[in-house]
Amino acid sequence: MEHRLEADLTLSGPLPPTFPLGDLLPRVATEAIARTVGKRGEGRLSQWTLDGPKLHVTIESTGPRPHQALLALVRRLGEELGREAKVGVRTFEAPRYRTEFPLDSAPTAAITLPIPHQLLVEGTVATLTLHGLPEEGLRDNWMDRAVALVQEKARRQGYRGKEQFWSLLSSSPPREPLFRDDPTEEMLKRQWVRSGPTKGKWFLGPTAAHLLRTMERIAVEEVLRPLGFQEVVQPHQDSFDILLRTGHLEGLPGEFYYVAEPKTRDPAAWERFTDLVKITRQVPEEELAHLVTPPTAVLCYAQCPTTYWWLSGRTLSSGSLPLKLFDRAAVSNRYESGGRHGLERVDEFHRIEPVFLGPPSDLVALRERLLERYRHVFDDVLELEWRTAWVTPFYMQQSGRVGVEDAEARVKGTIDFEAYLPYRGPRESSEWLEFQNLSIVGDKYTKAFSIKSQTGELWSGCTGIGLERWLTAFLSQKGLEESAWPTGFRGYAGEVPKDVRFL
Ligand code: SER
Ligand code: ZN
Repeated sequence: MEHRLEADLTLSGPLPPTFPLGDLLPRVATEAIARTVGKRGEGRLSQWTLDGPKLHVTIESTGPRPHQALLALVRRLGEELGREAKVGVRTFEAPRYRTEFPLDSAPTAAITLPIPHQLLVEGTVATLTLHGLPEEGLRDNWMDRAVALVQEKARRQGYRGKEQFWSLLSSSPPREPLFRDDPTEEMLKRQWVRSGPTKGKWFLGPTAAHLLRTMERIAVEEVLRPLGFQEVVQPHQDSFDILLRTGHLEGLPGEFYYVAEPKTRDPAAWERFTDLVKITRQVPEEELAHLVTPPTAVLCYAQCPTTYWWLSGRTLSSGSLPLKLFDRAAVSNRYESGGRHGLERVDEFHRIEPVFLGPPSDLVALRERLLERYRHVFDDVLELEWRTAWVTPFYMQQSGRVGVEDAEARVKGTIDFEAYLPYRGPRESSEWLEFQNLSIVGDKYTKAFSIKSQTGELWSGCTGIGLERWLTAFLSQKGLEESAWPTGFRGYAGEVPKDVRFL
């Protein structure tokens, strides 16, 4: 694979006519190439010309892409020219930067990039030329990222239409359903819930709220407290910086609720807005658009990213490991668009998200204990028909990656918990409800947030407990009649509030 970088350096002034650039430049280039390309391929300064303060250089490499060599060259050249001729390198850019690289499979459709470029593909070999790459792009490694993006887009085209990865891990015995209707419909009939004032949200009246909180208590008392998880309370908005680090921003930009802020609190600035409201009794949308900022954050999408943010840049002492935390304060928001259905697929939901960090072996052991506790809850307390499966890891899905990590070894990855929903049809052919998951994510997030442990490797994982999903799974199988509910659950539920009576 060959790479060719043409760069233009702008010097702070012309060099004296006698300056021996013909000796200096090749020497500096050879050093820079030796340091960056080294023995990993052939690298060379294949051309150079000087035109007043413009120095044009071309570096080729059959090893690593040569932009690091260029950066090293610019640094050393600047030092030498400064010392010998009082001239510096003011800026540099690459009018053309060409690279060759392999693709997993030949693309089936055009691949686009949002920066000036030309892309040629022959079979599974791509040749990408970036045009007019600025200094920032050279320093910040845009080429390698553009290559990774092209490779990912080609891979995604290859995957299109293929099933998501799903491999059964365990199943509970079948259980005869006590109910066969859609529980949300039934709750609506009984006025337990009302479709919310904005899209995809629900208002839970006293009975439904009590049942949701019962689920929460079961999770905390049967799973989290016995395993030593400690509660944290985290903010409800995620910064863009967090989303950049986790990959969510590139993976799911169309699934966030974005947060805007008022540009000012000054009532004078809002006067026209206020007056329009008073006169028209409508929302002056255009006026409002001028008065708020573009989005500055998003509403919580999942809680674990903010937990990692809390730990970012810190070193955990061995005595605190494995660290076991959970948050139930932040409410999760996802823009579901067409996918909404009842209480099980909503734009706003309540979830407990336990997060754990520690050495890999500790996390694997903890996963077993979590699985045991969950099994106890679903078999003995809720008496559900449920199953688990290895699936495409959530962190690959959410950062827009494709494929399966570690499908064979099953150390890292996501296990989904699914419940049978009788109202959807036969258990063999209907879609079951994912009501919770459990993942070990390796060092993806500890690295992304620079979280270290006192000694050794630090991995992390999380296990989202979706309370609306637990509730829907339970009511779908057991119905809304208290007398039919399993004893274990009734013990936790205690006295269930009476339905509010509406006339
Ligand atoms: N972070 C996980 C998810 O978003 C929850 O555990 O699925
Ligand atoms: Zn998580």
